[in-house]
Amino acid sequence: MEDEILQLSDVTVHFPVKMSLAQRLFSQKSVVHAVDRVSFSLRSGEIMGLVGESGCGKTTVGKTSVRLIEPTSGRIFFAGHDITHTRGEQLRRLRKKMQIVFQDPHASLNPAMTIGEAILHPLSIHRLELGSLELGRDTFEQWAVKKVLSTMTEVGLTPAKHLYYKYPGDLSGGQKQRAVIARAIITEPKLLVVDEGVSMLDMSVRAKILQLMLDLKRRHGLTYLFITHDLATAKFICDRIAIMYLGRIVEIGLARKIYADPKHPYTKALLQAIPIPDPDKRHNKVLPRGEVPDAVHPPAGCRFHPRCPAVLATCGWEGRDFVDFLDEHLSDPNRAGDDESILGPIEGWRADGLVATLKANPVNVEKVVERVKAVLAEAPIAMTQAIESVSGRNRTVTVRFRSPDQLLQTNVQDRLVECLLYQ
Ligand SMILES: Nc1ncnc2c1ncn2[C@@H]1O[C@H](COP(=O)(O)OP(=O)(O)O)[C@@H](O)[C@H]1O
Ligand code: SF4
Ligand SMILES: [Mg+2]
Repeated sequence: MEDEILQLSDVTVHFPVKMSLAQRLFSQKSVVHAVDRVSFSLRSGEIMGLVGESGCGKTTVGKTSVRLIEPTSGRIFFAGHDITHTRGEQLRRLRKKMQIVFQDPHASLNPAMTIGEAILHPLSIHRLELGSLELGRDTFEQWAVKKVLSTMTEVGLTPAKHLYYKYPGDLSGGQKQRAVIARAIITEPKLLVVDEGVSMLDMSVRAKILQLMLDLKRRHGLTYLFITHDLATAKFICDRIAIMYLGRIVEIGLARKIYADPKHPYTKALLQAIPIPDPDKRHNKVLPRGEVPDAVHPPAGCRFHPRCPAVLATCGWEGRDFVDFLDEHLSDPNRAGDDESILGPIEGWRADGLVATLKANPVNVEKVVERVKAVLAEAPIAMTQAIESVSGRNRTVTVRFRSPDQLLQTNVQDRLVECLLYQ
């Protein structure tokens, strides 16, 4: 589309897992599945939020969008041009048009550079493209300093002439973030990726910086990819939001529609977990049970299935879900009875893809099979429905799950949702 400024198409980013030499020799090569087949586009002038818990891949999407990271696969388009593999001089030129602002303004500013020098720096780097080549060195300096001062005033760093000569250490957190924003917009970019740009600021400062971003967007026709783990901030500023979970976008659409009526079970859980400001009504809503699984071994099928309150039999149950369930069961003295003497210890169980296995004494195999079936009577119904068989052969007891259904993005009331409930 013509007014699309940024488009990600099936973008995947895998990172190598840092391993010692011994680990590299003896274990399989593994990767962090930071981002998996993510697609979305940003229309010129909109603010799109990328929201999700820590570690779900937001920063990786942000950095990949501005090509600080080259994707493992997939394509990235900026203003209609394929920039997936752009490098060198061309990439440097691209940087003028797409900028990124990070969470910690202090870490983003060189402590040895004055605020004015820091904001001026990109003008020196992009001098050629700024059409100021014909200016002599002195005239360029004058032009650049004037531009820095007016940009500082625009972002509220006043009196600009005074603050120009200050160092980052002399400024408050809010002022430093204003300086970082000034540095980001001074080359007049089209796209600004803001990665947790207000997360470290106090509430009162946060509101002012968000308002500044809205003003700048209006005045300069900016487009934002606004990354945050904070749904309240995203609600305030975003036109559309994309909800991420473990490297996938699970729901994407107009912010007001998603906030009013979330469809994906993960979005519902996230929205319920927003703290309620009224102390009388405060209750500690928590996200569904369980930790966020690690991105080196993401769950099969729907990645949210181990925590999903609405999980179906076809959502991706696999061997390790059984081992986790059994572990929980055996750790509960009220439920376990003498189960551990027959099924334990839990370390004896191996999970591999769709199956979980236990090496048992041959005389006990049938007994173990029967006990597994008895314990499964207490398992979530979706898990029991997902089991294809529990069998014992030779010395091995095997619990086998059916293959999950394929997940597709479905259009549900003006948004895309990736959940089998809607397929
Ligand atoms: N350079 C890297 N090398 C290895 N793993 C990484 C690297 N950067 C991020 N990761 C991993 O990728 C996943 C996504 O990280 P990130 O994009 O920073 O998430 P978020 O910004 O949502 O917190 C995490 O599991 C993180 O540990
Ligand atoms: S596909 Fe939907 S119902 Fe199934 S686990 Fe995922 S979010 Fe839950
Ligand atoms: Mg991050």
